[in-house]
Amino acid sequence: MSCRTHGLSSLIATLHCAPRRRVRGQLLYIIINVALLLILAASSSDVNAAPIRVPDLSRCDLAVDESVGDTPPLTLRFNCCLPLPSASRILDFSFDKYPPIRQHVRRPAHTAKEDYIAKYNKAYQLMRALPDSDPRSLKVQADIHCAFCNGAYMQAGADGNVPLQVHFSWLFLPWHRWFLYFHERILGNLLGDPGFSLLYWNWDDQVNGGNMMPEMFARNGTALYDAKRNPDHLPPAIVRLSPANNSTDTSVVVNENLNAMYQSVVTASTAELFAGGAYRTGSDLTNSSVISATLGGSVENGVHNGIHYWTGNPAEQLLQDMGTFSTASRDPIFYAHHSNVDRLWDVWRFKLPGGPRKDHSDPDFLDTEFLFYDENANLVKVKVSDALDNAKLGVSYKTVRADDLWINYSPKAVTSGSAVFSALASGVSTIGATPSNGTIDLDLASMRLAAIVQRPIGETRPSKAEEVLVIQGLELTSRDSFISLVVFVNLPDAGPSTPTNSAEYVGTFNIVPSASQHRHLVTNVKFEIGDNLKRIGLQKDDRVVITIVLKSKPHETDSNLADAAHNLAIQQRISFKGLQITYE
Ligand code: C2O
Repeated sequence: MSCRTHGLSSLIATLHCAPRRRVRGQLLYIIINVALLLILAASSSDVNAAPIRVPDLSRCDLAVDESVGDTPPLTLRFNCCLPLPSASRILDFSFDKYPPIRQHVRRPAHTAKEDYIAKYNKAYQLMRALPDSDPRSLKVQADIHCAFCNGAYMQAGADGNVPLQVHFSWLFLPWHRWFLYFHERILGNLLGDPGFSLLYWNWDDQVNGGNMMPEMFARNGTALYDAKRNPDHLPPAIVRLSPANNSTDTSVVVNENLNAMYQSVVTASTAELFAGGAYRTGSDLTNSSVISATLGGSVENGVHNGIHYWTGNPAEQLLQDMGTFSTASRDPIFYAHHSNVDRLWDVWRFKLPGGPRKDHSDPDFLDTEFLFYDENANLVKVKVSDALDNAKLGVSYKTVRADDLWINYSPKAVTSGSAVFSALASGVSTIGATPSNGTIDLDLASMRLAAIVQRPIGETRPSKAEEVLVIQGLELTSRDSFISLVVFVNLPDAGPSTPTNSAEYVGTFNIVPSASQHRHLVTNVKFEIGDNLKRIGLQKDDRVVITIVLKSKPHETDSNLADAAHNLAIQQRISFKGLQITYE
């Protein structure tokens, strides 16, 4: 902005001060100046973009999938257009208008007592009993989520039709926090108990039984039950936070879960790595250049998406209900799942070693607006800045000691010494940053890709900087089945059976399928790798081997790779633009 002001004032000065005989020279100067200004304006349009504003609810795209040309064709149609409020007025949220009547203390679901389970069940009975046209009904609650993940509404103020998407960016955590806030108030209002609190599915707890589907949600015939879940994942099956190998050894699975938590929450120390990157008016996941591609945070991409996949029913085309965003919040377990995600945001902010971590402070983040229905079926406009402190919203989470297990998890390296030379000897090639290498297709037959990547060794490392691996411009032409990218360092031969409990495991991007007509996805993916390299003893190396292993449903082993490749073939194409290691 300052450059532009400077350019303008010098232009005005030129106009006012030009002596006549030098008019032609000045005219040329003006033309050059104007051209420069235009170039500047065009190149800085990303920087000067605006926060997301509330969309026009009267213009709903059905968010259906027409599936033209898909193999096999998707037959699903989701109409998640939201009911327009009878009063055309939209309320502005303020803490005065929504005073917390009692503190909402959210507790782990697996510790709930029978009387609380009965109350919880009653709340969802009442919510399910409301007519579909009621904004407080479970149907509309589910549609709110569907609408803002499936492109039912276009961004206000964007050029052309840009679908509004609350996943894959910094919108993810605050949007879901607000969603839970109003959902909890609606349930409390239906019960006549304004202090009613959601429970959280403590899936990160690997010792006290939190790491299975809470039994209260698995009681057939209750309002908390959903028939569309993976029948193999009812309690006491243990969750898999990353769809890893098929290990049946519980201690391996538990350690993989702890490592998934450690890599998703602890080593992701910046707001961008943990919570995701910028999403402003004009940001478009379906049609982005690499530079402006959005970026989901590690908690979203990793463990959060992992639980969606684990819970959904693989017999359904898109792993409904939990396995796809269009239907996920039809399942009451969704809200307990997200209460845990929301809790982890607080753990990440305040409870990790090294002192409090910082949320984004970008004005475009803070000024972002969302729309929800409150307990009186009013439409309310909220801002991200009002959601950053759970205490102000009257929400707190009961602290659990089991967090310490993943906070202090210390993954051991299974390799010693660099694998670069053996990788070179077996023909692994070097992949660099955009745009030098163009587009790299992930080979859907071998399901894996190993590459040698240069480190920024020798560059001055900014203090407190993280070393970050960037998969630039990851692109999926469609998202018709579940897919997961599991990333390792220093393990050139890593494959679908490689355990993810070691220091060589960098992280996972679990990509949930979508029924949206806007399901083309272009996104950057980032993983903190400095901690991994230190644990393996590769701090001084100038190159490392990165291996990306693709997984799809079902959990495949080496022996049924063909099946997995078939599932993946539905994706048509998965590619990325480059690999880069940077200090951030
Ligand atoms: Cu909006 Cu768990 O997703």
